[in-house]
Formats: sequence, structure tokens, C-alpha cells
Amino acid sequence: MSFSKTVTYFIFIKSTQIISLMAVKKGLFKTSVGRKNLMAFTGLFIIFFLIIHLIGNLILIIPDSYFPIEFWSNVANGHDMYNAYSHFLVHFWPVTIVAYILYVAIITHIIDALLITLQNKKSQGEKYIVTDNSTSSWYSRNMGILGTVIGVFLVIHMAQFWLQYKVLKVEHDLYELVLATLKIWWFVLVYEIGIIALGFHLVHGIESAHRSLGIYPKKIMNTIKYIALCFSLVMAILYAIIPIILYFK
Ligand code: HEM
Repeated sequence: MSFSKTVTYFIFIKSTQIISLMAVKKGLFKTSVGRKNLMAFTGLFIIFFLIIHLIGNLILIIPDSYFPIEFWSNVANGHDMYNAYSHFLVHFWPVTIVAYILYVAIITHIIDALLITLQNKKSQGEKYIVTDNSTSSWYSRNMGILGTVIGVFLVIHMAQFWLQYKVLKVEHDLYELVLATLKIWWFVLVYEIGIIALGFHLVHGIESAHRSLGIYPKKIMNTIKYIALCFSLVMAILYAIIPIILYFK
């Protein structure tokens, strides 16, 4: 194993240990406030990843007429540029560390969501609760279902790209793999369903992350809701057009 890989694994294992210890000591998984804060932090980190991931994948749909890009003389077309970007993701060790933090954040987010759902179910069973749904949106009441749809999408997505390219290393031309996959209609459908679910999940997620972290002054409540809506819409539209454009390319 190379030196940089050994250092990367060491930092990953140590930071996972420290984070889990802190989480257990501070009771982050125990109290409902702790769980919600953890949900908000991991969610915001995943959003940071989603922005970078989107920018990277937009390379796939840059029209051929934009190439060659002059300031980057080696990159003659989208094919080369996408493969150069993915090669960088795998071989630049600081990115590998961020990727490991991302995996921990995704797993923590899912476990935390399950714990919160179980806790809510338990407290609904214990007390007689009258819930007024008239002011909440359907997506905020169905975050669990949306999360499950995204989870199924992620399993298919990771098995197709991440597993083959990053783990098993059976496919070296990632651009060709993505293109071949998104020529199959049912993959495109899975992507569109996953991305729509992600859009709705983001609107409510951003809003409630602000509330959980206490950054929710009443005065700017509507502004935050509006920003969350616009951001989620832009993210969902940009993600959604990629498979459609590649299907017809
Ligand atoms: C058009 C849409 C998308 C395309 C073309 C795409 C493509 C890819 C590819 C090629 C990889 C493997 C290489 C890499 O690590 O970057 C990957 C990894 C990944 N994708 Fe996507 N993706 C899309 C949308 C999404 C969405 C919507 C999500 C989240 C809900 C997502 C989550 C992930 C994750 C978590 C990884 C692993 C990241 C890592 O190992 O660093 N992707 N994606």
C-alpha cells in the first residue's frame, strides 16, 4: 500500500473513532435535540457534496462546440475533461479523505433518520396526539418515504458507478460507463425519480436544518423558505437534465 493511502486510511479510522466517541459522549444519538443537530450537520455536509458533484457532472453535457477550452490545452473534449476530473477525484488523497467523511455523514444521516422515526412512532403510540396537518406540506410529512426513495436510488447509483470505478476498478473510462448507462431508459427513469425525491427532500431538509441549528429568526422565516425552495429547484432541474440530455445525445 502506498504511503499516501496508508496516511489516508489512518486519518479516516482515527477521525471516525473521535467523531463516534464525541457523538456518544455528548449524547448526540440519545437526546432528540442532539439527534436533530447531527441530522442538520450531516445534511449540510451532504449538500456541500451535492453542489460539487453537480458541477463535476455538468461536464458531461457541455456541448462539443465549446472545445477545445483554450486555458486548458490538454483537454480537447468533454470525454477527456470528465475522465481527468474523475481521475483527480480518485488519485488526489485530500479528496479521498473528504470522500470518507462523506460516507460517514451519509451513514450517520440514515441511522439518525431511522432513530428519529422510531422515536416519533414510539411517542405517538404512548400518547394520544392530535396532529394538525393543515399547515404542513405533504413532503415535510413524508420525509421518510422520500429518504427511502433516495436510498434505493443511491444503492443502484453506487453499484453502477462508484463500485465499478472506485472500488472494483473494472471500468477505467468513466465517461463511457456513464454514457452507456444513461442510454438505458429505465436507468434514466430511476434517476429522474431519485432526483425529484431529492428535490423535495432538500426543500424541507434545508428549512428544518436551520430550525434545528437555531438559525431561524421569525422575521426571515419566509426568506429562508424561499431560498430553500429556489436552491432545491435549481439543484433538481440541473441534476435532472443530465440523464435526459445524455439519453438523447
Ligand atoms: C445526473 C446525475 C448524476 C450522475 C451522472 C452521477 C455520476 C456519478 C459518478 C460517475 C460517480 C462515481 C465517481 C465519483 O465518485 O464521482 C458518482 C458517485 C457518487 N454519487 Fe453520483 N451522479 C449523479 C447524481 C447523484 C445524486 C443525485 C446523488 C445523491 C443523491 C449522488 C450521489 C453520489 C455519491 C454519494 C457518490 C460517491 C461519491 C464518492 O465516492 O466520492 N449522485 N456519481
